[in-house]
Amino acid sequence: MIQPVNGKFEMPQLPYGMADLAPVLSQESMLFHFGKHLQTYLNNLNALLPGSAFEGKSIEEIVKTSEGGVFNNAGQFLNHALYFLQFKAATMNNVPTGSIAKAIVRDFGSFEKFQEEFQAKGASLFGSGWVWLSADANSKLVITQEGNAQNPITKGLKPLFTFDVWEHAYYIDYRNRRPDYLKAMWSIVNWDEVNNRY
Ligand SMILES: [Fe+2]
Repeated sequence: MIQPVNGKFEMPQLPYGMADLAPVLSQESMLFHFGKHLQTYLNNLNALLPGSAFEGKSIEEIVKTSEGGVFNNAGQFLNHALYFLQFKAATMNNVPTGSIAKAIVRDFGSFEKFQEEFQAKGASLFGSGWVWLSADANSKLVITQEGNAQNPITKGLKPLFTFDVWEHAYYIDYRNRRPDYLKAMWSIVNWDEVNNRY
C-alpha cells in the first residue's frame, strides 16, 4: 500500500538512476516519463486531495473508490509507481525466478508463450493504456488490457507487473514502433520485485 506523508503522496524512490535503463529506456525518455509525466500526475493528485473525501487514504483505496479527475490522476500515479519500481539495469537472458516463474509456466505453458500473449495484448490495445499481469483471488495469473488510467485492482485483481503503452512511454526511444518497445522491455524487468508483489 502506498500511503500519503503529511497529506501528500511523494515520488517513488527508484533503486536505479535515470541513465541506468539505457538503451532499453534512454535517460531522455526517463527524464520526460518519470520526471515530467509522473510528476504532473502526482502534482495534480496532491492538489485535488485537501478537503476531499480521499484525504489521508492510501492510493489503492483512492483508485478503488474515486472517479473523474481524482481517479485519473490517482490511477496514473499508482500505475507509474508500479511500472518504474519494477525495473533494473538490463541483463542478458533475464528470465523470471522463484514462485512467479513456476506460476507463469503453470498458467501459460512457458515463459515464451506468456511473453507472446503479453506483447500481443500490449500491441493491440487501442489508444492509451496499460497491459498488466495480475493474480486473481486463487493466485492464478491473468493478463488484462486496461485503458487510460485503469488499474486491475478495480476488478479485484492483484497487479504484479505492467508495460505502459501510452505513446509517451515509447515515442522518444521507439517512435511509433510499440511492438519493438514491448519486445525490448523484458531485459529490464526486476523479477525479484514481481515476486515480492505476488
Ligand atoms: Fe506513462
